[in-house]
Amino acid sequence: MCYAIPGKVIEIKDSFVTIDYFGERRKAKNDFYKLSLGDYIYAQGGFVIQKISPQEAEETLQLWRKIFFKLQKRDLKLTERPKNLYRIANSIRQKKLGNSCCIHGILEFSNYCRNDCFYCGLRKSNYKIRRYRMDTEEIFKNCKYAVEELNFKAIVLQSGEDLWYTEEKLEEIVKKIVRELPVLLILSIGERDLKLYEDLYREGARGVLLRFETSNKKLYEKYRPYHHFEDRINLIKNLKDLGYLTFTGFLFGLPGESKKDILNDIRLTGDLNPDMFSFGPFIPHHHTPLAEATPPTLELALDTIARTRIMYPESRILVTTSLETLDKKNGLREGLLSGANSLMINITPEEYRKDYEIYPGRAGIELSLKERINSVIELLNSLGRAPTDLGI
Ligand code: 5AD
Ligand code: SF4
Repeated sequence: MCYAIPGKVIEIKDSFVTIDYFGERRKAKNDFYKLSLGDYIYAQGGFVIQKISPQEAEETLQLWRKIFFKLQKRDLKLTERPKNLYRIANSIRQKKLGNSCCIHGILEFSNYCRNDCFYCGLRKSNYKIRRYRMDTEEIFKNCKYAVEELNFKAIVLQSGEDLWYTEEKLEEIVKKIVRELPVLLILSIGERDLKLYEDLYREGARGVLLRFETSNKKLYEKYRPYHHFEDRINLIKNLKDLGYLTFTGFLFGLPGESKKDILNDIRLTGDLNPDMFSFGPFIPHHHTPLAEATPPTLELALDTIARTRIMYPESRILVTTSLETLDKKNGLREGLLSGANSLMINITPEEYRKDYEIYPGRAGIELSLKERINSVIELLNSLGRAPTDLGI
């Protein structure tokens, strides 16, 4: 996969740099490299994650130069004369953020969880799934393949809340990945001590994906036994204060939730000022207490994306796998045409993917990684999107 565009450093101020991508200027933070004016870099999520040689940059830029402006035009054309709420949101996305689209890889490294959330197939009381864990070497091997062979620039390491991964183990994993691979590392490991997160930031992790699940405190505490809503919100705020990029949001369509709750969900996400909005439809799992619930419609999902874009025009909004699962044929495309500008590709090895059953029938898991990458790139080309980093 050659799906990343390098940029040229045109200004340096302390640990911040300005980068030029075909005339578009973006800012990024540089924590890891010694940089001079004119250097070429890759940035992700507003962080410089790799410095490359001018030759390598020129070769890649030459390929992109041919298509970048064509893609921009295609995106612009698709946003002309919007006819409904979804397309209005899409044209706001285009005006505010251009045709940039982030792609993150996600590695699901353990499906053990100490919690018992009513909505989730990984809950500890679900004895019917086969549990697995990857050790440091296996996690590293998969990240290395994704970064070096497939050219991923950002990886989310996701698991249930699995205490088998002690602070020492997680430090070892983060340290090895960040030292050896040019990648933005994002953690999605649940509610762990703030001190642990502090240490993992020091080792080089730079993002956290942690949803607050629902802004309705009563529902939160009903569906997440022994957990308190305020603790979750405080943790998300504290992680942001530590310097982490925060990806947060909610599940919608839970039984008992009202339309007003969803609006509050969007507002609460906005109040947390996240670097990425991550929200998706609830899909019932047959081995959970919410097995009999009905999933929300694709329309509600697109409506939620569009409203978020209209309320927070400059936000980054992810199309989640659960939306893709609601409508396997059109979910991703429609999400991107309703205001979203980011997506994830599952890089979990095929032998484990089906066991990471948060909900059944997950989209994309039947494809091989290369097939999935090709179909995503084909779709992004058809929509005129390009992987420039949006910066900070
Ligand atoms: N449907 C959709 N998303 C789910 N999650 C958990 N269970 C489900 C489900 N049944 C989401 C939660 C959690 C993330 C890892 O997966 O929002 O934060
Ligand atoms: Fe565990 Fe997260 Fe699933 Fe809850 S939603 S059971 S914390 S994996």
